[in-house]
Amino acid sequence: MHAVLHTVSMDGLVVIGEGEKDEAPMLHNGESIGDGTPPEVDIAVDPLEGTRLCALGMPSALAVIALSERGTMFDPGPCVYMEKMAAREHLADLLDLDRPLGETVGLIAERKGTEVNDVMVVMLDRPRHQDAMDAVRAAGARVRLITDGDVSAALLAVDGSNAVDLLWGIGGTPEGVISAAAIKCTGGALVGRLWPRDDEERTAAVEAGYDLSRVLTQDELVRGDDAFFSATGVTDGDVLQGVRYEGTRGASTESLVMRSRSGTVRRIGSRHDRSKLRALTGYRYG
Ligand code: FBP
Repeated sequence: MHAVLHTVSMDGLVVIGEGEKDEAPMLHNGESIGDGTPPEVDIAVDPLEGTRLCALGMPSALAVIALSERGTMFDPGPCVYMEKMAAREHLADLLDLDRPLGETVGLIAERKGTEVNDVMVVMLDRPRHQDAMDAVRAAGARVRLITDGDVSAALLAVDGSNAVDLLWGIGGTPEGVISAAAIKCTGGALVGRLWPRDDEERTAAVEAGYDLSRVLTQDELVRGDDAFFSATGVTDGDVLQGVRYEGTRGASTESLVMRSRSGTVRRIGSRHDRSKLRALTGYRYG
């Protein structure tokens, strides 16, 4: 997707960007953006988290960005995937990537004081998750499958105002770091561990000094306590309303904007004048 990033007063380093995977024209890993003035920040950006969701008109595509002080964001290096678990704060100590998932849903039910069939695990619908799906169902808990978008799923899992108790699965490492930044702001917990796809990726990661057995929490994926996270809905979803066009000129959007230091979470509804923005920037704006 074509991303528009206006000149901003900061010195930003894109730690997590589009990378080669999506062959995007800008916002590559290692790119510097901003006008070079402080603050110096690390940036993780996914202009379209859920490309396929957007293309198919399905729910929960988001535009997301996270910022933190320079040098505090985990650089996933060659590892594209990460095993992840996320849940609300009161379940944090139950997040264990090595415990059988069937046992974990039982412990969650006990902690919630409910039957295990009241526990819902959200996971990406992928063949690599089949055993985990079977284990959750065999334990009597429920599985909510999503085709894409595990940042949105992580936000649901830590929110508490919906039926999802746990996000589990192997998804993008960039999305793991972005979710960690969000969870540092909202509260909740996430653990992740790099998941190399094959021996070549495993060797590259080990040679680059990564410890593949290390379990990283949200505070290790994004260190320090001054992280920012923003998400704007692209298509309507459980977390945010998508972009609504109003005639030939207007559009409205809904965003979450939050900061870990203050813990402030803002939900912002915006109206845009696309013809004015077009005239100002030269970009199409829908
Ligand atoms: P995009 O931002 O590239 O569209 O990623 C969507 C997504 O579903 C992520 O939410 C998820 O972490 C990742 O892809 C899973 O990767 P894969 O589709 O290769 O299983």
